[in-house]
Amino acid sequence: MLESGRLLLRPVELTDANETYRSWMNDPAVIQYTESRFQTHSLEQIRQYVASVQADSGSRFFAIVEKESGKHIGNIKIGHIHPVHRHADVGIIIGDKASWGKGYASESLQLIAWYAREQLQLRKLTAGIYANNLSSLQAFLKAGFVLEGRFAQHWFCDGEYVDGLQMGLLLEETL
Ligand SMILES: CC(C)(COP(=O)(O)OP(=O)(O)OC[C@H]1O[C@@H](n2cnc3c(N)ncnc32)[C@H](O)[C@@H]1OP(=O)(O)O)[C@@H](O)C(=O)NCCC(=O)NCCS
Repeated sequence: MLESGRLLLRPVELTDANETYRSWMNDPAVIQYTESRFQTHSLEQIRQYVASVQADSGSRFFAIVEKESGKHIGNIKIGHIHPVHRHADVGIIIGDKASWGKGYASESLQLIAWYAREQLQLRKLTAGIYANNLSSLQAFLKAGFVLEGRFAQHWFCDGEYVDGLQMGLLLEETL
């Protein structure tokens, strides 16, 4: 369990693969800038996904819980943990739209960065963002990530090709 001022991060359990989680993953506003938008998500598929991440030693998967309400508002995942390079990739979804714009994504990212450095002994986190996902970009920047690269016209989104942004956070230097 990880704790910040307003949030708890606890491991995602199979019981979290519920109707709320399913509704997030089928909400066009939530998945519009993610690769998850290409499939319809059933409870069974989400259960299988949670089980596969739990079984993957190269991943850590946390539920983001608002402390005040006890509400599960989203998930954050560290994946592709590399034991030699000591880097990993981060993905985040705040599925509860009422919780957007409150700084919860940047707070979660800061907490996961602390965990990655202190508990996993990682030295770097990376993330890929659609360039038109402005709130995501802002949240990663606020958490200390910097823009390391740009893949020109990499994703098809909202009727046009948009750039892919490669973000990075050097944990030893910035935390
Ligand atoms: C992207 C997402 C994680 C952001 O979560 P959040 O909790 O709302 O993010 P935060 O509140 O920490 O930060 C958002 C920042 O973007 C800013 N922002 C929001 N809309 C914006 C816009 N259209 N243009 C510029 N900035 C914008 C906010 O003002 C805030 O910045 P501030 O704190 O400096 O004011 C959330 O909307 C989400 O889960 N979306 C769906 C899934 C997704 O896209 N995940 C990311 C994939 S890379």
